[in-house]
Parts: sequence; structure tokens; C-alpha cells
Amino acid sequence: MQFLALFLLVAPVAYTLAAPDPTTICLPEKSSAYVFSLTDNRKANVSADFSQNKVAAVYDQGRRVSDLATNYTYMIDAAGACTRQPLPVLGFLTRCLPAKAVYLGTVFEGFVKKVSLDGWLIPVNQDTNVTLLTFTEPGQSNSYFVLRRDDSPRGQRITFVSNPVASVADSSVFNIPAVCPDSPAV
Ligand SMILES: *[C@@H]1O[C@H](CO)[C@@H](O)[C@H](O)[C@H]1NC(C)=O
Ligand SMILES: *[C@@H]1O[C@H](CO)[C@@H](O)[C@H](O)[C@H]1NC(C)=O
Ligand SMILES: *[C@@H]1O[C@H](CO)[C@@H](O)[C@H](O)[C@H]1NC(C)=O
Repeated sequence: MQFLALFLLVAPVAYTLAAPDPTTICLPEKSSAYVFSLTDNRKANVSADFSQNKVAAVYDQGRRVSDLATNYTYMIDAAGACTRQPLPVLGFLTRCLPAKAVYLGTVFEGFVKKVSLDGWLIPVNQDTNVTLLTFTEPGQSNSYFVLRRDDSPRGQRITFVSNPVASVADSSVFNIPAVCPDSPAV
């Protein structure tokens, strides 16, 4: 009887432990990683600096800087010419997972030194979902996503993230040229 009472008390706690709080799954203040698409041939070195609320992707053909404070994305080509666009929903990126992220479960990788990855579904809006596999190193507070799938009216996009570091080697990737007109409507 005493055992049962204890079990009833502990069970909800165990359940809470199994489902992490999404708002505690956060990127470091500064980070960089190599990101490539599994659905097209795009690849980029992506850096994020949440002290200036900016994310920059450096491609072979130029840079794309997203300003999460103003919600504009700036495209800068190899010659330095710049145009800007309102940040699309697809550009959805925040330092921590939003509270509405739904925990899908945990999987592991590795035969011996197993690491766990957590699955999340973020219902961004009625026709856009983002599904993520996040990795938190044992004993560390910061996380990043290893795999990300965007399902939107524009189609499905899957990106793979590797070689993460908790720093930005060259902060000039975030620079936005003084002259950067709105890109013509498509
Ligand atoms: C990404 O960074 C690596 C290491 O600095 C570099 O060798 C590579 O060319 C970069 N890739 C792109 C697409 O900028
Ligand atoms: C930018 O977008 C975010 C998320 O949709 C919103 O919370 C914020 O108010 C927007 N900021 C501006 C300046 O429009
Ligand atoms: C988003 O996910 C929910 C829950 O799995 C699903 O019902 C819905 O159809 C999905 N929407 C899109 C656009 O993928």
C-alpha cells in the first residue's frame, strides 16, 4: 500500500522528466555550423548571434543575413549588391524552442557511447510545421538541432547541421550594407 502511494506520487514526476521543457532547449548566444540541405544542393556556413539577434548564412554565391529584431532578410551577392525582403515564416528561427513545441520522443545514436536526440514538432501556423531533432550534450546547457524538416506550402525542405561551435569566427558576416533596397515583388 505504501509502495503504491509512493508510485502514484512519483509517476507524474517521472513523466515530466521524460518530456523536457522546450523553452530550455536553446542555442548558445553565439554559434556557427555547417548546414546542408538534403532536398536540394544548397550548403552554407550559418552563424547566429542572439546578442544582436542576427543569423547569417554564407553560401558560395553570397550571404543572407536575417535580422530577427526587424524581421528582414538581407541578400548580399558575391559583388556586394544587397536587397531585402520581409523575413518569411519559413525563416522561423528563435534561440530557444517555443513553448508550443510538441515533444515527439527521444532516440539514441551510437553502439557504445550512446547520445540521445529529442524530436520536436513546432506547429508554426495552419499550413507550416517545423520538425526538429535536437541534441544536448550530457552536462551542457546549450543545444542545437541536428536535423530540421520544414513542411510548408512551398514544399518540404530538410536540412542537416554539423560541425557546430559555440562561437562566431568572423562577425563581419552579420554586416548589412548601408544601401539595401526592397527586393522587387515576385
Ligand atoms: C565554410 O567554412 C569552411 C571553413 O572555414 C570553408 O572551407 C568553406 O569553404 C565554407 N563554405 C561556404 C559555403 O562558405
Ligand atoms: C518579428 O516577428 C516576431 C515573430 O513573429 C514578432 O514577435 C515581432 O513582434 C516582430 N517584430 C517586428 C519589429 O515586426
Ligand atoms: C502539421 O502537423 C500536424 C500534427 O501532426 C498535422 O495534423 C498537420 O497536417 C501538419 N500540417 C502540415 C502543413 O504539415
